[in-house]
Amino acid sequence: MRNRRRSPALAWLALLPAALAVSASAYAGDRALGEYLSGECVTCHQLSGRQVGGIPAIIGLPEDAFVALMESYRRRERDNQVMQAMAVRLSPEEVAALAAYFGSLTPHN
Ligand code: HEC
Repeated sequence: MRNRRRSPALAWLALLPAALAVSASAYAGDRALGEYLSGECVTCHQLSGRQVGGIPAIIGLPEDAFVALMESYRRRERDNQVMQAMAVRLSPEEVAALAAYFGSLTPHN
């Protein structure tokens, strides 16, 4: 065992790239959280990607586009009361999580 001992300083250096990667992607969405949060959204939006009753499909969007759409409702640049109410309640982490989840879905029947 003695040969396998490494200096603590080197061990921390080895962790540095991972730590940097985590902080760089602080807002990369947590897909599992997004799936959990999506329950409310899919009472209106179809998981299949179909547009029903004037409610647009929201799956398969690039994550940054999804985030930008939510941001435009939050800032009331886009005028829809339901979506504005949805967007103001969500934290940036939650919006990123929803973006990761819905973005990962593909249309199906
Ligand atoms: C009560 C029904 C309802 C619920 C619940 C709902 N939405 Fe919406 N959503 C709409 C409608 C209607 C629109 C179209 C509004 C407009 O014309 O701008 C829309 C638009 C959107 C858009 C823009 C799509 C595009 O391409 O223009 C996104 C993104 C979106 N919703 C995400 C969500 C998310 C995420 C949730 C859950 C947190 C959610 N919605 C919950 C009804 C709903």
